[in-house]
Amino acid sequence: MAHLQCSATGCGTTLDLHHRAHSCPKCGDLLEVVIDPPQEDPSALKQRWLSRRMSFDMRDTSGVWRFREFLPDCYGPDGVVTLSEGNVPLVRAQKAAAWVGLPHLSFKHLGWNPTGSFKDLGMTAGMTEAKFVGATAVGCASTGNTAASLAAYAARAGVIGRVFLPAGQTSQNKLAQALDFGAELVEIEGSFDDALNTLLDGSDPSLYFLNSINPFRIEGQKTAMFELLEQLGWQPPDYLVVPGGNLGNSSAFGKAFIELKKYGFIDKLPRIVIVQAHGANPLARMWESGSAELEAVARPETDATAIRIGNPRSWRKALNGVRFTGGFVMDVTDEEIGEAKAMIGRDGIGCEPASATTLAGIRKLTAAGKLEREARVVAILTGHVLKDTDYIVKAQKKKHAAEHSR
Ligand code: F0G
Repeated sequence: MAHLQCSATGCGTTLDLHHRAHSCPKCGDLLEVVIDPPQEDPSALKQRWLSRRMSFDMRDTSGVWRFREFLPDCYGPDGVVTLSEGNVPLVRAQKAAAWVGLPHLSFKHLGWNPTGSFKDLGMTAGMTEAKFVGATAVGCASTGNTAASLAAYAARAGVIGRVFLPAGQTSQNKLAQALDFGAELVEIEGSFDDALNTLLDGSDPSLYFLNSINPFRIEGQKTAMFELLEQLGWQPPDYLVVPGGNLGNSSAFGKAFIELKKYGFIDKLPRIVIVQAHGANPLARMWESGSAELEAVARPETDATAIRIGNPRSWRKALNGVRFTGGFVMDVTDEEIGEAKAMIGRDGIGCEPASATTLAGIRKLTAAGKLEREARVVAILTGHVLKDTDYIVKAQKKKHAAEHSR
């Protein structure tokens, strides 16, 4: 039976799947979902997943629930809260590929989801579980995208959505989305980390948490890798490059590869490379120093506001995936992010600043001769170009001013 278990090695605590907690009652570490072993062999199931793309059944039109054999799947067709998320293309890099000197570079654009970010993949799973356990109000702390996504899915589920945002640090575009979808807004003085602490320390037991410490969120986000592998004929790339903030997404991808390998769906593993912004880089620092514990960055600072996070909660889970796949962790400066973002724009694709950490990281690696030219590389773009329009206008004005002053 699918159930929850503590993600800490050696703890061993297990709980009922629908137990409402975000951490282990024994040791306090994060919980994770343990799925039932798939009942069909890999080739039959891969075929079934593909054939669902021709179905109009609501669950089949979702790029998350199409892979329900690897998800908690007790909700039935009517219990699922979905906006047909997922189903996003893998786009070949052109100018960006030439810029970094890698002919086999592609972008998996998770920003082309219903609310413009990868959060929708996790939110469909988390909101479905929230509805199943009878929640009437859901909440999250957010740098903006989780808030926009939560607000949309809460509206679909008919529950109250309450979002805790760091005051003055969220892009107006994301704020506007959350408000348009009817969320209640709580602004917190301080950073995302302060907002999350406020939410977690809050005494409202009726509020169901939908940050990525919620294990159901991770399950939904995991499916992005199933879709990616399907698009690649189940031949994993050599490298999978992903931005790192609170580290839920990289944890989800690691879990996908661990399970797919365990059940014989893939033989080879892509190396997971997590890229953080230099001013909000606790995991990169830890990786560099070889330390065994994460030291939080007290005042995270980066123009990529989505990942302005100093104390990522899922760091242990994320490191698990990095180590399992033979990957690594690195950081890039805001300047490098800006250059890479502009290049993704010139490829006709566009993304928000946090997503561009991926291309910036790749460029840094190729410039240092650390990525072989023939490597097959997939960069995960996490947010849509329209998620932070202020950033673009400011950057372009600055560029013009610099050109005219020459
Ligand atoms: N990229 C974007 C566009 C994001 O919004 C986030 C996180 C990340 C990358 C990092 O993902 O946290 O799973 O490592 N945004 C969260 C939010 C924190 O509240 O929207 P992560």
